[in-house]
Amino acid sequence: MLGKNLTIIGGSGGMGKVFGEFFKRNGFKITIYARNLERLKIVAHEFDINYESSLEESVKDADIILVSIPITSTVSMIQKISPLLKKNALLMDITSLKNMVVNTMQKIIKVYPINCLSLHPMFGPGIKDMKNYVMIVLKVGGTENYDDLVNELITLFELNGLIITESTPEIHDRRIALTLGVPHMFNILFLNLIRRSKEPLTELTKYTGTTFLLQKVFAESIIQRERDMFAEIQIENQEFHKVLNLLESLIKEYKTIIQKKNISKFNQIFDEALDYSKEDNDFKDSYRYFYDFMKILKQE
Ligand SMILES: NC(=O)c1ccc[n+]([C@@H]2O[C@H](COP(=O)([O-])OP(=O)(O)OC[C@H]3O[C@@H](n4cnc5c(N)ncnc54)[C@H](OP(=O)(O)O)[C@@H]3O)[C@@H](O)[C@H]2O)c1
Repeated sequence: MLGKNLTIIGGSGGMGKVFGEFFKRNGFKITIYARNLERLKIVAHEFDINYESSLEESVKDADIILVSIPITSTVSMIQKISPLLKKNALLMDITSLKNMVVNTMQKIIKVYPINCLSLHPMFGPGIKDMKNYVMIVLKVGGTENYDDLVNELITLFELNGLIITESTPEIHDRRIALTLGVPHMFNILFLNLIRRSKEPLTELTKYTGTTFLLQKVFAESIIQRERDMFAEIQIENQEFHKVLNLLESLIKEYKTIIQKKNISKFNQIFDEALDYSKEDNDFKDSYRYFYDFMKILKQE
């Protein structure tokens, strides 16, 4: 059975707060740790949970430890705390990339009698309710209690309305390169492309119908989010580097089509994209969704 003492490393951060609130609501006794003591105290007070200024003290009695710190610090944190954990403890992370983390966890469970589970919540700190959001789960392994502990936790997530997707590090990082890295990149590039034209956005908006307006709002919402994390998701994922190579050849191909006024090739590349998207469940309603969003923007 899952123990109730749960420590969140990075508990004063955006996602740490989301999970602190979630686990507290589900009956766990929460302790948070982070380096900046002032912020830690404020968050502990706000959520009425405990804080601990010593990393060692924060984890030594914990039944469950959730590491919720930037991607590039997660591996060394896992290595640092693993020897400090009690037998059968469940160590989890929520980083947006999994290859390095799961690799490290696989080595750690061979040395220490603990359990490891890697999670990737497919939502950000702005979430109000986790219901119907996806949580990707990567089972790493551990002690003889592993299946019971992990199944109990997954049931808890499901009872709270989360949709669980099980994955492997390879599949996870390959797909995340496309579902997070690509949309982040396109929106950063979109705003920079417009900026380099030297046309002010406010002026361009006067020439806007529907598509540009929606694209602009989408990009503006992305560009106000977690810059450091967006950088890590793209730079640290080798799978994203492969996507960039694909993009480079696609842009070259597209440029040739346009410069050579090759209408049949244009039709071909357009229809290939159309056929690919037809397989998607949202395809047939997407035009309606588009106008639903427009209604909000135009305040009809
Ligand atoms: N934001 C999202 O949309 C999102 C979605 C899914 C998954 N994630 C993952 O969630 C994790 C946390 O993201 P976040 O957005 O919550 O970040 P955040 O708001 O920047 O919070 C990071 C937290 O970690 C602490 N921290 C930073 N470096 C640390 C270190 N070296 N040792 C100990 N504590 C450290 C910070 O406090 P101090 O600086 O005071 O130590 C803070 O409490 C990341 O791995 C990210 O990939 C984020």
